[in-house]
Amino acid sequence: PRKAVTPAAVLARKGREPLVCLTAYTTPMARLVDAHADVILVGDSLGMVVHGLPSTVGVTTEMMILHGQAVRRGTSNALLVVDMPFGSYEAGPARAFETAARIMTETGCAAVKLEGGETMAETIAFLTARSIPVMAHVGLMPQQVNTTGGYRVQGRGADADRVLADAKAVAEAGAFSVVLEKIAEPLARRITEAIPIPTIGIGASPACDGQILVIDDMLGLFTDFRPSFVRRYAELGQAADAAIAAYAADVRARTFPAPEHTFPDA
Ligand code: KIV
Ligand code: NA
Repeated sequence: PRKAVTPAAVLARKGREPLVCLTAYTTPMARLVDAHADVILVGDSLGMVVHGLPSTVGVTTEMMILHGQAVRRGTSNALLVVDMPFGSYEAGPARAFETAARIMTETGCAAVKLEGGETMAETIAFLTARSIPVMAHVGLMPQQVNTTGGYRVQGRGADADRVLADAKAVAEAGAFSVVLEKIAEPLARRITEAIPIPTIGIGASPACDGQILVIDDMLGLFTDFRPSFVRRYAELGQAADAAIAAYAADVRARTFPAPEHTFPDA
């Protein structure tokens, strides 16, 4: 088997082979992803795609730990990163350290991810100085939906300098990589060229050092809405619907269970 990917190995991939990243929330999905990916993220997107919440704001540390533990059991090669949920780190560096250390010790993940640029730089420096590798996340930050009011493309026009400053701040603070969400290609290229850590894009063009998608989006399992930046590599939702409909018809027709699914008396 391949050796486990480390944060240092991810950092060393800057400007080299693209980093392949995906989310996972369960053990069996983690096994499938682990066979091909460099990084597995237990994203707080699980609130929406697994738990039916309207945004990621309602996700708790307990939810992240439970799913982190499940994914850990299915991960042997990829770097395992777990998202810090809304409300668990923003109050200050010490609070963030307590949450991050708890997530790491209880799940066995190798790194945490948090949303925020310049605002979170001090916290990122505090964590990395205390042996917690941090993946940062700038551009569109879904945990800020209640103040930003939506999921719009970030960094257009004069706003580009803000996103660039955020990316520079998290790199200088010691993050080993940074997710760039929903920004235009020229800005993604500018950031990727300006900072010494890998950029991992989602809706952020091929100019990034790596890519990430939400697994349920790319497999066609989560279909409540369809972000324009997602490519559907499968239609598992449709396949499941057809399978469940066939099962329902068989049960109603008493054609399932068949003799081969039925135990004889002896
Ligand atoms: O929560 C998540 O899944 C994420 C990635 C899509 C970057 O933050
Ligand atoms: Na997230």
